[in-house]
Amino acid sequence: MNVGLKTQILPAGEAAVAAAARCLAQGGLVAFPTETVYGLGADAANAAAIAQLYQAKGRPSFNPLIAHVGDLRAGMRIARFDATAIALAEAFWPGPLTLVLPKTSGCAVADLATAGLDTVAIRVPAHPVARAILRAFGGPVVAPSANLSGHVSPTTAAHVQSDLMGLIDLIVDGGAVEVGVESTIVGCFDAPMLLRPGGVPRGEIERVLGRTLVQPPDDADNDASQPLAPGMLASHYAPRTRVRLNADDIEAGEALLAFGPATVPGTDSATVVMNLSAHGDLNEAAANLFGYLRALDAKGARAIAVMPVPHHGLGEAINDRLRRAAMGRE
Ligand code: TXA
Ligand code: MG
Repeated sequence: MNVGLKTQILPAGEAAVAAAARCLAQGGLVAFPTETVYGLGADAANAAAIAQLYQAKGRPSFNPLIAHVGDLRAGMRIARFDATAIALAEAFWPGPLTLVLPKTSGCAVADLATAGLDTVAIRVPAHPVARAILRAFGGPVVAPSANLSGHVSPTTAAHVQSDLMGLIDLIVDGGAVEVGVESTIVGCFDAPMLLRPGGVPRGEIERVLGRTLVQPPDDADNDASQPLAPGMLASHYAPRTRVRLNADDIEAGEALLAFGPATVPGTDSATVVMNLSAHGDLNEAAANLFGYLRALDAKGARAIAVMPVPHHGLGEAINDRLRRAAMGRE
């Protein structure tokens, strides 16, 4: 481990963007805000930097990374886009959609970052700081969420700091992110497949495609040998505290993660209550989700009881992350 690196923290701005680009070019690790969650960036073409990235996160190297690029043209240098992929890119980029596509023969992304697969995951982030860093750096940047492997994703620079201080070179602080859950991942296979629900609701993608997205096979979650989206291993998003879903009452000693205006019996006896969105707005709930899970996890409650969250819109991604949180780490 490279514990003992001096991690610099800079407020977003011209100086931070220039420092980030310089650091990436030198093989360093830079955390920066995207509209979904904070990413931990490395030069996608630099295998040594990517090896350090896996080490810093404690992430298994069979779990491939997303290559972030500035625009569709840059994406086309590393992957082959068919008509479906182009339609999705034009509809949703820049934005919280990742496409899994066949690599081009000259694909600059190191094999280590794609875990030896012949596909690569690509996205064009919308956050102005991410875009400025990509522009200044000038090449693809691989960036997983900037958390220790197994922790929930960071939505503020402080979350990044608490996980990765001393393990990475630079954190660019651009404030809290807007979306709060990771990008939606679509595999552009013969039939487009929803590999991970995320920041773009399924319905919006299906409207553009004019067809429904195929579901991955049931066992894809746990098949680490030939994963479709290996980061979706069941245990990926677990807090330390036990998580109890669809709670319709609160038991003694539990913390409550509430949703909407209703209350459930026992709320008064909860050790602490946080409401994802008091008026039941799923976008607001997504933005609060990971921060509230971290905050409640720190309270040392017996369990975190979670009220039901509807499944439409961003609710699909929220429920997916909650389900994984409830499965526990192992
Ligand atoms: O919103 C996001 O996507 C954030 C920000 C930083 O861009 N990034 C992110 O990265 O969530 P990460 O590494 O935490 O999740 C990437 C997911 C993993 O589940 C990984 O297995 C999957 O993408 N993935 C990457 N390359 C793949 C490929 N070639 N085929 C299938 N899945 C892939
Ligand atoms: Mg992640």
